[in-house]
Amino acid sequence: MAEIKSVAIAGATGTLGPHVLKALVNAGFQVTVLTRSKKPGASDANAKVLEVDFASVESLTTALKDIDAVVSTVGGTAIDGQTILIDAAIAAGVKRFIPSEYGTVTTSPKLETYPLYSSMTKIRKYLQEKASAGKLTWTVLACGCFLEFLFGTPTLLDFANHKVNLYDEGDNRMSSTSMVNIGKAIAAILKNPDATKDKVVYTSEVILTQNKVLGFAKELKPEIKWEITKVQTSVLRKESLEAFGAGDFSMPVMMKLLAGTALAGDLYGGAYDQTDNELLGIKELTGEDVKKLVAEKLV
Ligand SMILES: NC(=O)c1ccc[n+]([C@@H]2O[C@H](COP(=O)([O-])OP(=O)(O)OC[C@H]3O[C@@H](n4cnc5c(N)ncnc54)[C@H](OP(=O)(O)O)[C@@H]3O)[C@@H](O)[C@H]2O)c1
Repeated sequence: MAEIKSVAIAGATGTLGPHVLKALVNAGFQVTVLTRSKKPGASDANAKVLEVDFASVESLTTALKDIDAVVSTVGGTAIDGQTILIDAAIAAGVKRFIPSEYGTVTTSPKLETYPLYSSMTKIRKYLQEKASAGKLTWTVLACGCFLEFLFGTPTLLDFANHKVNLYDEGDNRMSSTSMVNIGKAIAAILKNPDATKDKVVYTSEVILTQNKVLGFAKELKPEIKWEITKVQTSVLRKESLEAFGAGDFSMPVMMKLLAGTALAGDLYGGAYDQTDNELLGIKELTGEDVKKLVAEKLV
């Protein structure tokens, strides 16, 4: 496949997007940001910014003229709408599409019909269909939980209040990658278009469990008394699915489903023992690195 030189990114102003934008610019791609509305200071001086209508194939096709690859990092509510962006990418002659997914267990066949996951599955299948017809190629990046979320929220441990809510017994394994490295992995995918063509590519900086992190915390500050509670991920799944069944698609219910699936360990393949880290140039964290992250949270 020909070298990818020009890349458009949708969703560059969100949580993950800025890291991806920076990595693409640093990797030397000619970058175009597609946004619903320009926001002062939200882009990179080396990127072109275009306001587009994400509901219009025509608007997007014009914006994607001469673009080799599209990276989407749009937020959850915009996942379904990516079919329009894909249609425009095809119309404009784009060669590679990376959809917004970046999940832990989003590619698990067991979750295909679950809310949120079904949108991502729909987009993946849409891309597979288009790729089979020779219209474009795709790559999905599976990256585990964002490392910043695991250490910046009480998900693993509530570092500030010395509380732990263990999912099941606290031994569920989960892959995790920082957003900076997710950006680098995306740039590496586009630098290696043949090796990453039409497949799910896996990156994982580290595989964590709550007990492993709690162990480091206890080793570092034995004087801290941790208040430990437990929650069964099967209960979170059951309760969230019941709420969806009753028509409640609110954020707390979504978060409950996410916790009940992404933090359920090997049940849905949340820990990647096989990765593409080497191809992507992603260095794995050592135990000492993780201990340092824990120490920073315990000050
Ligand atoms: N693995 C994990 O732990 C984890 C955690 C969080 C998120 N994720 C995944 O990462 C991806 C990005 O999530 P995020 O939290 O960074 O997203 P986000 O901050 O919620 O949104 C990203 C951007 O999407 C654009 N957007 C929003 N609504 C849109 C719409 N209706 N049409 C087109 N664009 C729209 C906006 O950009 P403009 O205003 O510039 O258009 C927004 O800044 C998602 O696939 C999400 O599932 C994974």
